[in-house]
Amino acid sequence: MTVTEAHLRSDTRRTGWRAGAGRFAFLAPIAAALAYPYLLKAFHAFAKVGQVPSGETLVAVIALLAACSVPTFGLLVAGRLGRIATPTEFEVRARRLAFISVAAPPFFVLFGVGLGLLGSPVRDRTAWTLCWGLALLFGAIGSDRKSLAVGRPVPRLRVFHGAMAAILVLFVVFHLGNHLVGLAGPETHARVMDFGRTVYRSGVVEPILIGLLLTQIVTGGRLAWDWTSGGGDIFRTLQVGSGVYVGAFIITHLNSALISARAIRGIPTNWAWASGAPEGLLMDAWNIRLVPHYGFGVFFVLLHLCLGLRIVLISHGVSVRAAGGMLALGAAGSATVAFTIIAALMGVRL
Ligand code: HEM
Repeated sequence: MTVTEAHLRSDTRRTGWRAGAGRFAFLAPIAAALAYPYLLKAFHAFAKVGQVPSGETLVAVIALLAACSVPTFGLLVAGRLGRIATPTEFEVRARRLAFISVAAPPFFVLFGVGLGLLGSPVRDRTAWTLCWGLALLFGAIGSDRKSLAVGRPVPRLRVFHGAMAAILVLFVVFHLGNHLVGLAGPETHARVMDFGRTVYRSGVVEPILIGLLLTQIVTGGRLAWDWTSGGGDIFRTLQVGSGVYVGAFIITHLNSALISARAIRGIPTNWAWASGAPEGLLMDAWNIRLVPHYGFGVFFVLLHLCLGLRIVLISHGVSVRAAGGMLALGAAGSATVAFTIIAALMGVRL
């Protein structure tokens, strides 16, 4: 049976209301991403400082948890679509859009900062709704019949992406370690950062660092595009999903730190800036978006590295089981580091 015949066969399986419901389910991550800022808004509307636990507290907690589950939902649907070995145009499109929905937290920060820099009269939520509405339409009109060529990434590009990541790990470990030190207070954080800046902000290192990060976004984007033209297992889904998030996070974070704060507004990019002082991250209507943005940012960057290490270990003869054990430990460690940094940014001190 040819690929086209397989698609035609699957078309005959999906007819009537079942086909419509199936399509809607695969596009649901786009609807979830569209709802993301409104869930954050609902949290802010119902959460009050010093609130006695009540029905309103429960609504606030549910709204925040729902917002934070948008990336996970995108991964689940992308994983389900990845089980289809020879996808239709609609299924490939829905899967790629599900991966993009994983990065809703950094994209929403980018909308907020970017539109502010442009002096746009259009609100971030309005522009967001329009963009995801168009994405929904783009997904919905994907054809069920067209057969697609399944691409495979160029092996040399994979090696290059991994080698550059191995260099960038040095910065990531220092940078996240620096934020962990925030548990000891802003002064200690500043002392460690001042030391780090003598290296990563030097005239030689900073352009190389930014260049390497942008190279990772371009090469990673190409790999993700090729990997999502066909099916993929759970590891591939996590690798692509975390990669899409990290790419969006880096663009957003560099725009906030280097362009908006340092170059345009002249704001010192210190602990106070990162933690949204004096309002704080949690109770401010704008800053609340930084909580999922930072939390998932730390988790996904570390998970992405662990997933890459798993492939390297397996290709060097380590058993799949042992490499899986390393990944499970790495994922638990990544979550712990992410929670700890968020706690420190919210004022927890040792
Ligand atoms: C909770 C998460 C994070 C927070 C709060 C945070 C905060 C900051 C701060 C305060 C700066 C300014 C540094 C300075 O002025 O010296 C900065 C810069 C930067 N951050 Fe992060 N960061 C986080 C996660 C990450 C991650 C996961 C990456 C991954 C690559 C990253 C990459 C960078 C880069 C490349 C710079 C620019 C460095 C430069 O000044 O040249 N950050 N970040």
